Amino acid sequence: MFTPDTLKGKHILITGGGGGLGSAFADRCAELGAHVLICGRTQQTLDEAAARIARHGNRVLTYAVDIRDYAAVGQMVAYMVQELGHIDCLVNNAGANFLSASEDLSPNAFKAIVDIVLTGTFNCTQQVGRHLIETGRPGSILNIVTTYTETGGAFVLPSACAKAGVYALTNSLAYEWAPYGIRVNSIAPGPFPTEGAWSRLMPDAAFTETYTKRLPMGRVGEKWEIANLAVFLLSDLAPYITGECVVIDGGERLQGAEFNYIAHMAPREDLRKIFQQMRKRG
Ligand code: HXC
Repeated sequence: MFTPDTLKGKHILITGGGGGLGSAFADRCAELGAHVLICGRTQQTLDEAAARIARHGNRVLTYAVDIRDYAAVGQMVAYMVQELGHIDCLVNNAGANFLSASEDLSPNAFKAIVDIVLTGTFNCTQQVGRHLIETGRPGSILNIVTTYTETGGAFVLPSACAKAGVYALTNSLAYEWAPYGIRVNSIAPGPFPTEGAWSRLMPDAAFTETYTKRLPMGRVGEKWEIANLAVFLLSDLAPYITGECVVIDGGERLQGAEFNYIAHMAPREDLRKIFQQMRKRG
């Protein structure tokens, strides 16, 4: 379906683009003709990703930013416009998560996740949206949610609440900004193991094995599979798709919320200890 110029001339901002799924999205977009800006909190991680992605020959900008900071996000948007002239697409990929019994969460722990996932998505979306509206350009915004957006999720309460908010943001803006030609969609990924996510969501090898054995296809997802879906939704191949959430999980959600199985892996007090150990590991 794709050709080398599927995204030619598109300028795409990808949050959390230095690693994991974000860098896979950036890489595939650049391969198909886009100029990208990847942002994240650590400049060195961004530089390393940019060096890899640059092999496709298109421009790869980096910007170190904490998306919780509205003004800093504004400066990033201004920088991208200054460097590339305009922005066409935004991928709200940056996420934050950890396993915790909800009764053990501090207010700040809840806030940290919600601020990164939900407020960060708002900060980027609103300011890129303003740019699109002010310049009269159509655009495509893609939000990464989860399959437990609908079901809720045990031990990932802040993430479940924040991602449900992002899902609501997606549909709200899909309708509100449709007259401007701005499409807003989301992807709900299932098991796509990345270092950032799995180190925080898989306590040890036994949990990982139990989790993996339950997967209907007997395997996890591969980054290229989700990257192609992202490209499709961002591209002009999908001009009439907006307000849609595409699940890509090999059928995993049909067996129940993604991390609820953990509740049955050990007595509750043991689980709380396991989560505390994970927290110490960082
Ligand atoms: C309980 C925790 C905790 C843990 C931190 N906190 N880790 N509480 N269990 N494991 C608490 C801290 O004690 C503090 O509260 C508060 O959270 C903020 O922590 P900080 O370290 O000060 O915050 P910060 O440096 O901003 O780091 C944010 C973070 C961190 C969320 C805690 O993990 C992070 O930066 N994550 C980004 C990357 C990431 O998480 N990637 C995975 C995404 S996976 P107190 O009260 O002590 O001040 C994903 C996929 C979802 O999103 C779909 C599943 C497949």
